[in-house]
Amino acid sequence: MNTSNNRQWKVARSPAQGWPSEGDFKFITTDIPDPGENQLCARTIYLSMDPYQWIRLRVGAEKAGDVCHGRTVSQVLKSRVDDYAEGDFIFNTNGWQDYGLTGEGISVFDYMFPRKIDPALAPISTAVGVLGMLGLTAYAGVYIQCQPQPGETVVISAASGGVGQNAGQIAKVKGCRVVGIAGSTEKCKLVTDTFGFDAAVNYKDDDFAEQLAAACPDGIDIYFENVGGAVFDVVKSLLNQDSRISLCGLISMYGNDQIGGTLEHFHGAWTEAGKAVFDQRNVTVQPLAVFNFVKDYQDQFLSEMGAWVKDGLITYKEDIWQGLENAPDAFSAMLSGDNFGKTLVQVSDEP
Ligand SMILES: NC(=O)c1ccc[n+]([C@@H]2O[C@H](COP(=O)([O-])OP(=O)(O)OC[C@H]3O[C@@H](n4cnc5c(N)ncnc54)[C@H](OP(=O)(O)O)[C@@H]3O)[C@@H](O)[C@H]2O)c1
Repeated sequence: MNTSNNRQWKVARSPAQGWPSEGDFKFITTDIPDPGENQLCARTIYLSMDPYQWIRLRVGAEKAGDVCHGRTVSQVLKSRVDDYAEGDFIFNTNGWQDYGLTGEGISVFDYMFPRKIDPALAPISTAVGVLGMLGLTAYAGVYIQCQPQPGETVVISAASGGVGQNAGQIAKVKGCRVVGIAGSTEKCKLVTDTFGFDAAVNYKDDDFAEQLAAACPDGIDIYFENVGGAVFDVVKSLLNQDSRISLCGLISMYGNDQIGGTLEHFHGAWTEAGKAVFDQRNVTVQPLAVFNFVKDYQDQFLSEMGAWVKDGLITYKEDIWQGLENAPDAFSAMLSGDNFGKTLVQVSDEP
């Protein structure tokens, strides 16, 4: 799978609209870049597929002709950066391409610093999954924002996905009763049998509302919100007095042109839908943005979550697509629920 040139997926139109389609991306081939001073060139091994990439495209954060943004696990090919040597594995943001530059003058969000990955500690793919931003998102939302107490009922939507699977397992570690919501029987089985949730409910079933109520006989103390829309309409009726919500994501809205394409639009529509219940039941809503937790919690998260994974308290399921050429299909599949676990694209071989 390793190539001697650099294939890239570029943004074809900006801002994008609706849900992704073929015309949003363009596949080209160019040369492998040479690193300048204080830069390194790295070969992409795993490319993470994340819903926020679509929000960035919808708001025009990337322009037509830019390489599509994406978090990656890479291996250093050539380095002109102190402390980084050829062969090192790193978490970086190569984007949707075989080879990318990292370092001085290369624009990334400041919280997405490159970081070395020790392949002896865990499989390197976990640096964009359970031991990366996804795991930190779940840790920040469930553990830090909602402070789960033993015996509380915690409900997680998009429970089988990258963030959801971690969120529920963290709540289990904290002694809660955990109920997952997912979009198929197979996903519900994954959630209970592999991730150890106490129950899982398929929101596509006609009697979803009745099933969720039966799975939460004491109501809901904590809701980890990943989807919004029809799922939230059912969940909100079961929220307890003084319950807490971590507002992590609203994926059901991300392609809805009627609502608009920004986070503010999504949050506004969702808050409007929940407002009456929030007021009546004194619900605490905490919007979650993982980048606000990196500086203060990254080290604590890595040590605690790393130990939970090592001790088998937390496991993970990855859905790995093969080949950079398939990145747009993998991306669309993840957004529409046609994934089974955390979605990654393997761009080149692990050495
Ligand atoms: N706040 C932050 O900093 C932060 C960071 C990372 C991620 N997030 C958010 O976390 C959420 C999950 O992200 P992820 O990377 O872990 O993705 P994921 O859960 O692995 O994949 C997305 C899942 O969303 C579900 N979904 C799609 N459309 C839906 C709909 N209309 N109704 C209900 N469920 C739907 C699908 O599962 P089903 O088959 O079960 O429907 C799909 O598998 C997203 O909302 C994302 O924006 C937020």
